[in-house]
Amino acid sequence: MLHPIHLTLNGICRDLTLDDPRITLLDLLRERMALPGTKKGCDRGQCGACTVLVDGRRINSCLVLAVTLDGAEITTIEGLAEGGRLHPVQAAFIEHDGFQCGYCTPGQIMSALGLITEGHAGDDPERIREGMSGNLCRCGAYHGITEAVQDATR
Ligand code: FES
Repeated sequence: MLHPIHLTLNGICRDLTLDDPRITLLDLLRERMALPGTKKGCDRGQCGACTVLVDGRRINSCLVLAVTLDGAEITTIEGLAEGGRLHPVQAAFIEHDGFQCGYCTPGQIMSALGLITEGHAGDDPERIREGMSGNLCRCGAYHGITEAVQDATR
């Protein structure tokens, strides 16, 4: 059975037909939409590497079936930079060394953007750490990540 869905993906309207209702948003992005910026870490909702925005809210894309997203607006790391200029959150991560190996960075940046948009953390480092606690960094770049989010919030 085929499942038609309509998405707005990084600002572009896309009509898709899914032949497998079990495909996750993460696999759809990486394997069928040629958007590998969103990373697969644990594939079970524990690491945050796959974080994207759906209708402005951050989600773990490995936990969401694509077929449930008909009509949704999805933003991935590929959708942030405009006109060759980095998004302010991306620039803040560079400015504050908010990464080492970089594997978790797209998820960290998307989660940071969601956190800033939610507006609950402000620039309070403790609240930022709590708000970003769903995104793991095995290199331990947490200090720079927190500083980057503080900077991008201001
Ligand atoms: Fe989705 Fe780890 S890959 S939370």
